[in-house]
Amino acid sequence: MTTSASAVKTKPEDLGRVTFLDGQGELPMLEITTPWSTAEIYLQGAHVTQFKKKDESPLLFLSQCSRFVEGQPIRGGIPVIFPWFGPREGLGQHGYARLKAWDLKELTQAPDGSVSVRLGLPGCPEASAYPAYTADYIVTVNQSLTLQLIITNQSRDAAFSFEDCLHTYFDVGDVTAIAISGLKGLSYIDTVAGFVEKTETSDTLRIAGEVDRIYPNSTGTVAIFDPRLSRKILVEKQGSASTVVWNPWIAKARRMSDFGDEEYERMVCVESGNVASNGISLPPGGSSNMTVKLSSVTLK
Ligand code: BG6
Repeated sequence: MTTSASAVKTKPEDLGRVTFLDGQGELPMLEITTPWSTAEIYLQGAHVTQFKKKDESPLLFLSQCSRFVEGQPIRGGIPVIFPWFGPREGLGQHGYARLKAWDLKELTQAPDGSVSVRLGLPGCPEASAYPAYTADYIVTVNQSLTLQLIITNQSRDAAFSFEDCLHTYFDVGDVTAIAISGLKGLSYIDTVAGFVEKTETSDTLRIAGEVDRIYPNSTGTVAIFDPRLSRKILVEKQGSASTVVWNPWIAKARRMSDFGDEEYERMVCVESGNVASNGISLPPGGSSNMTVKLSSVTLK
């Protein structure tokens, strides 16, 4: 691991800080404090479990019932989904990246107080089914949270096909009161209705039941207007062609052992990725870079 030094003139109190801790379930975790915000990242899954701006409530939802057990997914925060999205016969759902302890490769404390952490997915038996690749994840914490997933095909002769997704769980005041914009006019696959293709016709998506939708060819900014918490969340992205919106609602929440029965009221997933028809195929030596910036503004 390398640690980049800050500029000489910066006062220590202006710099971001990183503390290494045993998190829940004694899983290794990084606690990051910047002049504007705090964040927590578990090495397992390179999983950001929290981002909170000073004087604002937490941005990310984390289930009270989440397991924090080696090799099992954390429920909430930002699971990194790779190299496949959704179920895969004979294999687990949403790939293996979220189950592995990632390597901490670099910590950078910038003179402006930002902190960046670079993590790398280690080799694992499951990866032998694919051409050689590297997966790096850079998390930058400041006034906002920026996530960068870089996949490189290291093979000399084989293409590498995969899906990726930053499965972000947002904390909301009341899911029935939020309005999600940025999806109008896009077609989507309605998983709940049996994978039927539909078109989003309304200005904003409102949630009043189970929602599980893949919007392919969704490259623009998505916003979540939350009147109860008096804030607007922005999901800005580059290198992501798909958006997934998910809320399990009542029955599915009850079926999930690591999710509280009523917790569906306080969360919505707006996920940025490249899934289904937007899956990526990298030629030998090729690289893909998905960058997602999460920010929020308080509504007066
Ligand atoms: C979403 C999928 O991305 O993830 C849903 O669209 C799925 O179908 C959800 O239920 C949660 O998946 P998991 O594997 O974390 O329970």
